[in-house]
Amino acid sequence: MKALIVYFSQTGNTERVAAAIGRGLEAAGVACRTVALADARPEMMAEAELVGIGTPVFYYKEPTVVRDWMARLPAARGKAAFTFITHGGNPVNTLRRMQKQLGRRGYTVVKSFTALGYDSYPMYFKSFREWGRPEADELRLAAEFGERLSGEVGRFREDRNFSRPRYQFVGGAYFFRSMLCQGGMMKRIFPRLEADEKLCTRCGTCRKNCPTGAITMGPYPRIDDKCMWCYLCERICPVQAFRTDWEPLRKKLKI
Ligand SMILES: Cc1cc2nc3c(=O)[nH]c(=O)nc-3n(C[C@H](O)[C@H](O)[C@H](O)COP(=O)(O)O)c2cc1C
Repeated sequence: MKALIVYFSQTGNTERVAAAIGRGLEAAGVACRTVALADARPEMMAEAELVGIGTPVFYYKEPTVVRDWMARLPAARGKAAFTFITHGGNPVNTLRRMQKQLGRRGYTVVKSFTALGYDSYPMYFKSFREWGRPEADELRLAAEFGERLSGEVGRFREDRNFSRPRYQFVGGAYFFRSMLCQGGMMKRIFPRLEADEKLCTRCGTCRKNCPTGAITMGPYPRIDDKCMWCYLCERICPVQAFRTDWEPLRKKLKI
């Protein structure tokens, strides 16, 4: 069997889980290729008999860059898929949402894996939450998950009564927050990203690395509505030219 793992990762947590699952698949005799989402081409999907998609949780759901990518997947008919996520403690309905989105493209999720990942969201910059995660034990579990996948795919193909994963719907406050954190509301809630022109050297690091291509240099970085509020530009700017003021939001949320 040929498997393809596609992952999106900004601080390496999901990438490490992807690599561990890949090792597990290989150990079980499955030929596995692991690629970053930015390098995943549609024809790779067509060649694979099992497709895995991994993502961090951003704003209580899959990041827009992953959602848009799943929406563009070549249509399949009942192709076996698996999903995996890393998160800082509140994944809400991410796996459920991914299952639905993949289902629309004809992919059947046979199994999922979840791990905690240290959370570098800038609002918590003083103390990275879940520091050190995913831990060695979680990566071992990820590898074991990979090893079991081929058996799961076999059952999915052969057993008419194969039961697909059911993800319980998470409602309540975090669901409400997940609904708030999208589209035009993001602009109202979260601090605006603006480069300080006195500090910015116009090196273009932010533009080159922006996952949604939301940054143009004119001549200083300008961020348009494609922004998914991941604050990667702020984190990677070599001269820390992006200044965001989190104090008002911290006060509101009592953090
Ligand atoms: C912009 C942003 C938003 C996040 N939102 C959430 C969230 O809503 N719920 C959660 O549990 N973790 C959240 N996190 C934490 C990430 O899901 C977690 O750190 C993840 O492991 C990062 O994966 P990566 O290292 O592969 O990028 C957020 C992190 C960032 C940077």
